[in-house]
Amino acid sequence: MFFVACLLNLCKIIAKINRYGVFVSEKKIALASDHGGFELKAILAEHLRAMGFSVADLGTNSGESVDYPDYAAKIGEWISGNPTDMGILICGSGIGISIAANRNSQIRAALCHDGLSASLSRQHNNANVLCLGARLIGVDSAKDCVNKFLNTEFEGGRHTARVEKLSDFIKKE
Ligand code: RB5
Repeated sequence: MFFVACLLNLCKIIAKINRYGVFVSEKKIALASDHGGFELKAILAEHLRAMGFSVADLGTNSGESVDYPDYAAKIGEWISGNPTDMGILICGSGIGISIAANRNSQIRAALCHDGLSASLSRQHNNANVLCLGARLIGVDSAKDCVNKFLNTEFEGGRHTARVEKLSDFIKKE
């Protein structure tokens, strides 16, 4: 009996090591950006850690030019493997990276500019990825977006069928 219990616990631990080899003990916030967003990403990663969140930084980590679809794809892969996690994506305007992120059927990415849009993206759209434009948004507004995004629940109700239609739409393609 003891042996079986140990084996079960071991299986649970192995199940929490995701495809990136990261030990996932709780809900993580995955972050990624292109070169236009890496400085804001570092600030937000620190902000998240200070609030007690566990952070997975998927790059990029320098100002060397990279392509935003590649970093949107990394978040898509992460959320597909860890569906209860949430993501934050940053590029210069937030536009390119949000378009790219929404190509993945598991992602509901919302480009937000203030706390209200971030709250609504959760309440009405059950967004699981917050997109920000580092060249357009100030640090304080970006932090406000993050706080509202992570502390607001999906309202469900009349919004449920609408959000489900987003997945149907992709399936029909
Ligand atoms: C990169 O210069 C820039 O085009 C990108 O960060 C983003 O704004 C695209 O939508």
